[in-house]
Amino acid sequence: MREHPSDRVDVRSDTITQPTAAMRAVMEAAVVGDDVLGDDPTVIALQNKVATLFGKEAALFVASGTMSNAVALRAHTVPGDEIICDRSAHIYRYEGGGYAALCGASVALVDGEKGIMTPEQVQNAIRKADGSQSHYPDGSLVCVENTSNLGGGGCYPQDTLDEIAAVARANDCKSHIDGARIFNAVIATGNSPARICKGFDSVSICLSKGLGAPVGSVLVGSQEVIDRAHRWRKMFGGGWRQAGILAAAGIYALDNHVERIAEDHQRARRIAEAIAVMDGFDVDLSTVQTNMVYVNTEAPAADVAASLAELGIDLFDIAPNSVRIVVHLHITDEDVERIIAAFAAQ
Ligand SMILES: Cc1ncc(COP(=O)(O)O)c(C=O)c1O
Repeated sequence: MREHPSDRVDVRSDTITQPTAAMRAVMEAAVVGDDVLGDDPTVIALQNKVATLFGKEAALFVASGTMSNAVALRAHTVPGDEIICDRSAHIYRYEGGGYAALCGASVALVDGEKGIMTPEQVQNAIRKADGSQSHYPDGSLVCVENTSNLGGGGCYPQDTLDEIAAVARANDCKSHIDGARIFNAVIATGNSPARICKGFDSVSICLSKGLGAPVGSVLVGSQEVIDRAHRWRKMFGGGWRQAGILAAAGIYALDNHVERIAEDHQRARRIAEAIAVMDGFDVDLSTVQTNMVYVNTEAPAADVAASLAELGIDLFDIAPNSVRIVVHLHITDEDVERIIAAFAAQ
């Protein structure tokens, strides 16, 4: 699939995808209502579809992955609580400190392996106010990111997820999955969304990453959690009116763009294996499980990114000696060969 106007190969992120012609056609035809008044039929259809897919009672369509995580965190916590997550988690690194500003919560950071925490690490990171003579904050929410973005796109093993959900429950904590790329995990592991997320109180999924919709995320959980999240969405200014035009893109993406994610994973693998044997670069192939390739660079990553840009390849230098390639639905086999040739030319 391509349908992207640029002749550059843009692998900065899977967020750069543009709606295809077919997706734009369903958006144009969407029947809409006023979602603040609860009567946009296309939003309702999207929410029902996602809730069913994830085996949860209810769902809430929101503007972004950041908003979805924010309303979830706020729905699950009160000021003075503590959130347990991996050091590389998007909610900690890249959401503007929303956990502090919007929830009044602190964060207990876990040093997972490539973004993947163990149940023991989670257990050890939970501290409770009770029994601490009020010294500790109240660890009340465990957050998992699957797949892990900064971890390299790796998936949680199902046993680990199940055990982390059990640890949360045993410690009277809520549990949340930042599933911005949960469908990459679905395709990579062969497990259904409902199975992967079983035992977790809420899941945030993004429609605007690997799925290729222009805007939108969906939070799923129990009716009680979604009711609370709905109120926080309103207070955060996220109530929206004829949102069905965007929900239509989400429904189209879920119907048409999930299975094809397998192609992104194959292309990422091909890129990773080719670069791994080149001088000046190093790729840990064990981490290349989905659509991301993190390449360690001998030269400064910023110089590598600038030099690749001259050859028409756009990517991010993520760390002083690391660049990231993210494969998505606009990337073709020809693009893959262009990326490999550009790296070989460094
Ligand atoms: C793991 C993860 N969670 C959440 C988000 C936030 O999504 P958005 O950019 O839609 O706010 C991102 C964005 O890239 C992400 O990678």
